[in-house]
This record gives sequence, C-alpha cells and structure tokens, in this order.
Amino acid sequence: MALETTLSIIKPDAVAKKVSGRILSRLEEQFNVVAMKKLHLTREQAQAFYAVHKERPFYPALIDFMTSGPVVVLALEGEDAIKRYRELMGATDSTKAAAGTIRKDFGTDMQKNAVHGSDSVENGIRETRFFFAP
Ligand code: CMP
Repeated sequence: MALETTLSIIKPDAVAKKVSGRILSRLEEQFNVVAMKKLHLTREQAQAFYAVHKERPFYPALIDFMTSGPVVVLALEGEDAIKRYRELMGATDSTKAAAGTIRKDFGTDMQKNAVHGSDSVENGIRETRFFFAP
C-alpha cells in the first residue's frame, strides 16, 4: 500500500444541514487532514473542477448545485486513501449507498450526495492542487 492524497468536498447540501462537523469527525478518524478551507465556489471554479463532466446531461444542474452555498474542501492523506475514502463515502447515489457510509447517513440522492472524493491517485493529486498550493 502507498501513502495517497485524496480531495474531499463537503458539498452545499451537507454544509446547509450543518453536518459538516460530523462528517469531518469521520474523516479525521481515518485520515490525516493536511489542508482544509470553507469557501463558496464561483461558477468558473465549479465548471473547471467538473470539466470532465461537461458533456453530461446532469452538468448544468451539478454546477447550479455546487455553487448554491458554501462547501468545505479538504486534502486527506493516508495509506490507500483513494479506495478507503471511497468506501467511507459510499455509492454516488445516496439512496443506494451502504448503511453507515457518509452518503447514506447525510446525503439525499444522486446529486445531493453530501461529499465528493477523488476517483484515482492521479485525480487525487490534480484535484488537491486545484484548491491548495503544494
Ligand atoms: P461527485 O463525486 O462530486 O462527482 C460528480 C458528481 O456529479 C457526482 O458526485 C454527483 O453529485 C453528480 N452526478 C453524477 N452522476 C449523476 C447523475 N446521473 N445525475 C445527477 N447527478 C449526477
């Protein structure tokens, strides 16, 4: 196993529900939080961050949602962090996420799913650099 960095975003739905602290507690139990900030994404930031999805039908709604309120962005470090954080988050669709996962406990559906996480080691590095200086 290797030491990896993954980018977590506590999304506007979770921040609005005032559960970002409870989510942070779960993250701190398993990872080293190396950087963290709260911000309100601009449309330009959200469009650039999710550029890989720009041809998808859900893209406009995703940008509206991700800019609808503040988010908390965190760089998480740990052994095998990409896979372990994805397990902790649960399935993208909160209605299908396993019991005990963050998305099951704090999300609502496919869009309002409480948290984002990087899907590969390369994206973990790229997405962390999007928000934080090395
Ligand atoms: P996230 O992990 O942030 O990565 C892209 C996001 O797009 C995803 O979580 C969901 O919030 C959203 N998303 C992915 N697929 C769909 C879909 N089929 N319909 C609506 N939203 C989606």
